[in-house]
Amino acid sequence: MVSKTLVLCTTFISIVSLFMITINAATFNVMSYGAKPDGRGDSTQPFLKAWSWACSSVQPATMYVPRGRYMIKAAVFQGPCRSRINVQIDGTLVAPDNYWHLGNSGYWLLFIKVNRLSVIGGILDAKGAGFWDCRRRGGNCPAGARSITFNWVNDGLISGLTSINSQLMHVVVNSCNNVRVQNVKIIAPALSPNTDGIHVQVSTGVTISNSNIQTGDDCISIGPGTRNLWMERIKCGPGHGVSIGSLARDFKEDGVTNVTLINSEFRGTDNGLRIKSWARPSTAFVNNIKFRNIVMNNVANPIIIDQNYCPNNQGCPRQTSGVKINQITYHNIQGTSTTPNAVVFDCSPSAPCRGIILHDIKLTYLNQRAKSYCKNIGGTTRGVILHESCL
Ligand SMILES: *[C@@H]1O[C@H](CO)[C@@H](O)[C@H](O)[C@H]1NC(C)=O
Repeated sequence: MVSKTLVLCTTFISIVSLFMITINAATFNVMSYGAKPDGRGDSTQPFLKAWSWACSSVQPATMYVPRGRYMIKAAVFQGPCRSRINVQIDGTLVAPDNYWHLGNSGYWLLFIKVNRLSVIGGILDAKGAGFWDCRRRGGNCPAGARSITFNWVNDGLISGLTSINSQLMHVVVNSCNNVRVQNVKIIAPALSPNTDGIHVQVSTGVTISNSNIQTGDDCISIGPGTRNLWMERIKCGPGHGVSIGSLARDFKEDGVTNVTLINSEFRGTDNGLRIKSWARPSTAFVNNIKFRNIVMNNVANPIIIDQNYCPNNQGCPRQTSGVKINQITYHNIQGTSTTPNAVVFDCSPSAPCRGIILHDIKLTYLNQRAKSYCKNIGGTTRGVILHESCL
């Protein structure tokens, strides 16, 4: 009798808790709002409706996208939301065939002012080729769109996302705190213009890990106001490498500090580890940067600081950069360069680079010791330095 009551009791509790779990995790399936998984019908409004219900849920909510292809035009997923929100994508989001339909806003999928946001899974196919062609022809083209952007997101996660052929940048983290980007795959042709893989700026505490980036511009680009950025297990190539900058585009600009990249690999890229600034006066700075355990496979400029960026020699009256570069450590960088100068430090005469540390650098060019180039720098070497070091 006792055990029977116990069993009944337990069963009752299980049913109640099951019910509560269901309520707790409110799910808003885009199909319930009319999304069409055929890749043709416009699913923008159904997605926005599912978002707005999920966002106003008192319980933690999931906006759910089942398998299938969904055509989505430019969409803003606006917060703040009432609780934690999770966007679970098992399907593929495709942009309209006509690239004009992403409009001139600069964004395809924009998440704005959301706290505790996760975007899990999903394939984004922005079909950028038509747009790149338009720009190559120098025609009358729209501004172009970044594929997925987090603006003012705190405690965010992007995990397991694949982004294909973005018109401009694939993934953008702007004005955010504490965002993790992990297990992301980015794919675009080597010659697609301005298709940076992941761009971070004005953000603190961003982590990027376990990601494979093949694209036409920087694999990861790091803009002004980036602090405490951690990157690990990144595979980059083709692409233009991992780049801090271009900085000093504007005179009054925030700096970049405390950035770490470890355990990563570059393959066939134009640059490996790059710091780049315009040759213009600026309040910007770059300090406390660490690169460690990096393998270069046929990289044109494995290590490069270029403070003389000035395309077409326009807008750089005195041709010197005001960006102060300080405390940059390169530790255990090895592999092959496709140009003789594997290490280039072209720093500013008015703000020379300081505290450059080279520690165990083994870079070769055509199976020979690579060379290096130094201008306006100060620093030290440690351990094994295989190239002809000018430091
Ligand atoms: C530097 O950034 C890391 C995260 O990448 C963080 O854990 C650490 O506390 C930061 N250091 C400082 C001095 O802010």
